[in-house]
Amino acid sequence: MANTVIVGTQWGDEGKGKLVDLLSEHADYVVRFQGGNNAGHTMVVGGEKFISHLVPSGILQKKICIIGNGVVVDPEVLLEEIDYLIGKGIDIGPDKLKISEKAHLIMPYHKSLDTARESSDEKKMIGTTGRGIGPCYEDKASRRGIRFVDLINPHIFSEKVKTNIEEKNFLLTRFYKSSALSAEEIIKKYSVYAKRLAPYIADISVFIDKGVKSGKQILFEGAQGTHLDIDHGTYPYVTSSNTISGNACCGAGLGPRDLTDILGIVKAYTTRVGKGPFPTELFDDIGDRIQKKGAEFGATTGRKRRCGWIDMVILRNAVRLNGITGFAVTKLDVLGGLESLNICTGYEYQGRCIDEFPADLDILAECKPIYETVSGWDEDISGIRQYDKLPLNTRKYLRRIEELALTPIHIISVGPGREETILLKNPFA
Ligand code: GDP
Ligand code: IMO
Ligand code: MG
Repeated sequence: MANTVIVGTQWGDEGKGKLVDLLSEHADYVVRFQGGNNAGHTMVVGGEKFISHLVPSGILQKKICIIGNGVVVDPEVLLEEIDYLIGKGIDIGPDKLKISEKAHLIMPYHKSLDTARESSDEKKMIGTTGRGIGPCYEDKASRRGIRFVDLINPHIFSEKVKTNIEEKNFLLTRFYKSSALSAEEIIKKYSVYAKRLAPYIADISVFIDKGVKSGKQILFEGAQGTHLDIDHGTYPYVTSSNTISGNACCGAGLGPRDLTDILGIVKAYTTRVGKGPFPTELFDDIGDRIQKKGAEFGATTGRKRRCGWIDMVILRNAVRLNGITGFAVTKLDVLGGLESLNICTGYEYQGRCIDEFPADLDILAECKPIYETVSGWDEDISGIRQYDKLPLNTRKYLRRIEELALTPIHIISVGPGREETILLKNPFA
């Protein structure tokens, strides 16, 4: 039995979708445990591209896909995804997709509040995806949230909407000078979603437990990345959930004893979308070149991703916070053609070297990356499927990452396609 958690080690968009799709072949269940449709996970299969925001990336491998209680779900987006997949001939009936009855719903007022807050003060802007993620998690924590179990109880659902809308409309109109929303319209719209989604709603903790006891293998699909974690990321420039591996248990409803492997996805360089500190960010031609060659545009919002060198301070932080057992390094092909590459091994702060990631953003802003420069490679490596065939300098770059993070690399990705992969160790094997 092997149950693997896949997490992003940087600021998201490391290529989690590709790795989840690839490894799902060996899993029985694929479970999302946090985040919502702020995520954009790309899978490229047979030359065709699929971007999933809510449906777990195991769906193309025809696995049972589960949306855990820790996920915040916009039912409109979920139904669009279901319809899209049905249109592609993919079986996504209630035996293939299960949604936790305890998962919280993103409501129209969450989206309105997210965008109103972001546009109210440019200096305080986080650069959210505008999908209502933060306000939905706020309601969950303040016990005003609406869960799937409430969605299918018309009386409770309409009571909750009516109570919430009073407070939300006050905030929207009086504080943010934005427009009010109608409780009746929301109730009507969501009653249609309730009918369609009811067959998918289940007690997924019990379902997963039965699976674990009967030897089923589970893949947990993290969203965002370690440095967007609400506790451990670059707060307040973070998302509103715990993105690290420990939350796979809380967000799916199983105990930590059942997890066997934690695969940390590492982009061969670093990217970030939205605002917030980024010590190794590049503002020169090399940054532009990586952005273009790597097609670094957000899969959810289409925003240009900021690009920079690989940062071992954040990778070591990710190894510790997640208990990473192995790395999958992605987008290595994008670095081809550069004469030399920089690896950030630590930060210089007020004349001394620090190698732990600071919590204080003022300190972080003063940190200058300390770089080790290594030789690049010219070859196109996207066709290579064996480690030994990689150019010597590519292997040296990978070895140095392993040494500096004290973590083995188990998978190397050299292109977006499922098959464009060098698999050194399969966590399910
Ligand atoms: P996720 O959010 O972590 O699932 O990552 P995204 O899907 O948002 O972004 C990763 C992007 O890189 C997608 O467009 C992938 O198709 C692409 N990608 C993944 N792995 C590779 C790789 O090894 N090489 C290249 N060139 N592209 C890759
Ligand atoms: P995947 O799963 C990259 C970023 C947003 C913003 C911050 C808060 O595809 O890696 P939110 O809408 O969550 O309140 O925005 O978090 N962000 C992501 N960045 N990849 C993601 O997901 C992200 N999800 C949220 O850009 O900076
Ligand atoms: Mg993404």
